[in-house]
Amino acid sequence: MKLMVSIPLLFLLPSYASQTSVIRIDSTPIPSTEGVIQTETQETVSLLCILSGTPDDKELVWLRNGAMIKLDDGNKENGSSVCIHPVIHEDEGATFTCQLKSNSSHSASVTLNVTYHADLNGTEEVTLEEEESLNLQCDMRANPLVTSVTWKLNGTIVDLSTGGFIISNDGFNTKLHVKRVDRSLHEGEYQCTVTSPVYGDRNKIFHVTVTDKTIKFPLVPMIAGLVVVGLTALLAIVSRWRMIARCCKK
Ligand SMILES: *[C@@H]1O[C@H](CO)[C@@H](O)[C@H](O)[C@H]1NC(C)=O
Ligand SMILES: *[C@@H]1O[C@H](CO)[C@@H](O)[C@H](O)[C@H]1NC(C)=O
Ligand SMILES: *[C@@H]1O[C@H](CO)[C@@H](O)[C@H](O)[C@H]1NC(C)=O
Repeated sequence: MKLMVSIPLLFLLPSYASQTSVIRIDSTPIPSTEGVIQTETQETVSLLCILSGTPDDKELVWLRNGAMIKLDDGNKENGSSVCIHPVIHEDEGATFTCQLKSNSSHSASVTLNVTYHADLNGTEEVTLEEEESLNLQCDMRANPLVTSVTWKLNGTIVDLSTGGFIISNDGFNTKLHVKRVDRSLHEGEYQCTVTSPVYGDRNKIFHVTVTDKTIKFPLVPMIAGLVVVGLTALLAIVSRWRMIARCCKK
């Protein structure tokens, strides 16, 4: 009788993941046989820890990458659920473990595989003066990793052999750098494009305007100069006043 009930139940359960002994994790979405849950940023993952058998202590704890998750009372005994909403970048690769509080060798775990594309869109206006340095950057973090990164200027792939362009990628950002801009070479519309094998292309546009170089006065000599001019004028007035005063006396 018991078997007849539990077999259909097994089919009804949304999923099941890596487990030892008396603890099992059911989840939505369903994990792979290796206990990896496939999800995306902004999605929701719900995990339910189920205690079967009758150990003396029924209290359960949840850990995220080894750190305890605070649970409400009433969500600890026999079964315990946690909900990850919304899923964020930082959840990528995170392992959620449910274990018996009194004995951590009774546990079950699942790991999230959070897929997402680089956070890129929109247009940015960039204005700088002749001879200043140009620095543009685009986010290239994605899971799975991006397969290509390109920079275009006025619709043509940036030519690294001319124009002093330096492009570097550190895994987080792709950066375009020009040490000293020259309007004729560097003004225009830049576009970075990041390609994901899953999500396709994402890009961001920069409208770069190069203005004339303004002459920047060094402040201290300028103040000193003004003081000298002011003092000279004052002396001129004083000496003139003396002359006027003197001639009035006559
Ligand atoms: C924890 O559980 C394991 C497996 O059932 C058992 O061998 C071990 O003795 C238990 N440890 C404690 C402290 O109860
Ligand atoms: C995570 O998901 C991506 C996209 O489906 C896949 O290419 C990758 O192999 C997965 N990684 C793991 C650890 O399962
Ligand atoms: C890019 O196009 C703009 C507008 O047509 C033009 O003013 C600029 O000089 C071009 N830039 C380069 C480097 O050719």
